[in-house]
Amino acid sequence: MARLPCTCTNLHLAIAFLCLLNLINYLLLADAAIVEHTFHVGNLSVQRLGQSQVITAVNGQFPGPKIEARDGDTVVVHVVNLSPYNLSIHWHGILQRLSSWADGPNMVSQCPIRPAGGTYTYRFNVTGQEGTLWWHAHVSFLRATVYGALIIRPAAPRGRYPFPRPHGEATIILGEWWNTSVVDVERQALLTGAGPNNSVALTINGLIGAGGGGCGAAAAAAAENNNAAAAAAHQYQLTVEPGRTYLLRIINAALNYQLFFKVANHSFTVVAADACYTDPYHTDVIVIAPGQTVDALMRADAHPGRRYYMAAQVYQSLANATYSATTTALLTYLQDASDSHSRQEQEQQALMPTMPAFNDSATAQSFYASLTGLLQDGAPTVPLHVDTRMLVTFGLGVTPCAPAQTLCNRTRGSVAASMNNVSFQFPTAMSLLEAHMRGAPDGVYTRDFPDRPPVMFDFTSDSTTANRSLMFTSKGTKVKTLRYNETVEVVLQNTAILGAENHPVHLHGFNFFSLAQGTGNFNAHRHVRAYNLVNPQQRNTVAVPTGGWAVIRFTADNPGVWIMHCHLDAHLPFGLAMAFEVDDGPTPDAVLPPPPPDYPRC
Ligand code: C2O
Repeated sequence: MARLPCTCTNLHLAIAFLCLLNLINYLLLADAAIVEHTFHVGNLSVQRLGQSQVITAVNGQFPGPKIEARDGDTVVVHVVNLSPYNLSIHWHGILQRLSSWADGPNMVSQCPIRPAGGTYTYRFNVTGQEGTLWWHAHVSFLRATVYGALIIRPAAPRGRYPFPRPHGEATIILGEWWNTSVVDVERQALLTGAGPNNSVALTINGLIGAGGGGCGAAAAAAAENNNAAAAAAHQYQLTVEPGRTYLLRIINAALNYQLFFKVANHSFTVVAADACYTDPYHTDVIVIAPGQTVDALMRADAHPGRRYYMAAQVYQSLANATYSATTTALLTYLQDASDSHSRQEQEQQALMPTMPAFNDSATAQSFYASLTGLLQDGAPTVPLHVDTRMLVTFGLGVTPCAPAQTLCNRTRGSVAASMNNVSFQFPTAMSLLEAHMRGAPDGVYTRDFPDRPPVMFDFTSDSTTANRSLMFTSKGTKVKTLRYNETVEVVLQNTAILGAENHPVHLHGFNFFSLAQGTGNFNAHRHVRAYNLVNPQQRNTVAVPTGGWAVIRFTADNPGVWIMHCHLDAHLPFGLAMAFEVDDGPTPDAVLPPPPPDYPRC
């Protein structure tokens, strides 16, 4: 226990008032804690789809450990890299105020933690954030198996949810599975310049469930035979009490696919997304893009005698694509053991929800666009004055095959993804943040990321798809430099070059307000009227409509270097990224402190 900061004996009014403020401060901060973890990252052998697969995992767990904190806590994670790969870990959605060094993206905020014993301690505060976030590897494709939940509850002792307290909660992490090393999947993609192979199954909490083929079928069969132990090894199960309400913390950790999520005969009330509270939104389908989280209340109000599948299914936004996987977990009701009637009922086949069509963009768009932010005292509101406006086009393109791309088709060229036609190159000698701190960007990055695309064209027209003159992409490591506290509006505009697609665009270091979204080309005259400047949702990842646009706004109140990128791992290594460099502010509390002593160097 800290000592009370002052003793209120002086009756002079001003001093008494100051004492009161100090006391309030003391009471609010009294319970801030340090949440400490050690992550040993190494090989783990697991059985999936009838075969043994070596994956990279944390502390021998897959998914990795859950970090649980309260608003105001400090999180400290000691990472020990025992894996054969370079590693870094990103705390997705954590604002990292004045702790850019702990953000994690490889070669952006740090050099990697070296294999065979390299270490780094990530230290950051979680202040002013509540809800569900997550952590994942931010190098190569390692995040396919190196991930876990990061949950921030309201501050103790008086913090409360802005909704009725649920009876229980469950973390539901959705992922993708490959029957091979994901590092090889990425290497192959880069050698051919043609994009990575699809995963072979989806997962819920690391398990394949039914629908994955192989063991998926085994899980279904075991579940149907009511062989609980066998089914549980393959399929996540959640047991609920009739009539109670549960908070589902849903995370999309999949590498490349947005997902639909449903539970048969149950519906949800969404209360938060990306650890930002929303107005309650009722729906029977959750749509979630890689990087995003959704907190949803689910009332256990279905017939308790039956069992129900939860299912996650690919939402495929690319025209003519056919990949559509589904996976399941099982929802059962707690039963009175003496009730043989309901036991018999439970032995019936579990009910499967009716899923949207795998290319149902209308359902996806209506979910994404319907959420609004919950207005709360003291919470940030939309900046109404904009200092800097940017139009950023993004999507796929082509570059000539590089000499190292030995399997690249020379006539077709290599896939390159870009923002404003610059395909982002990760530096190799020094991280962007270290170069920024040294005030020596030369040779690492340039400050000429453009505010507009180099040519204006009909971005989303089908005739654009194969226009050779628009396809070619330049390469560079370009940042946009912002003054401290500058307000920025970015229109994110998808292009149809090589096919329009819904890309989840993620910004590090900030939550942004998502003001509007739509299909086709953004048109300032027409679309500014549709901006929600009252209660827009706040997010860290926005799923920009296929062949469409989204408008985001944020205040650059966090000095450091912050990457903004597509959260599809099929696109990030091909360059669908840029970075903001935010200068220090005028006061000591607006200056990025120096890096910690164990900060990894290249
Ligand atoms: Cu969750 Cu830069 O990513």
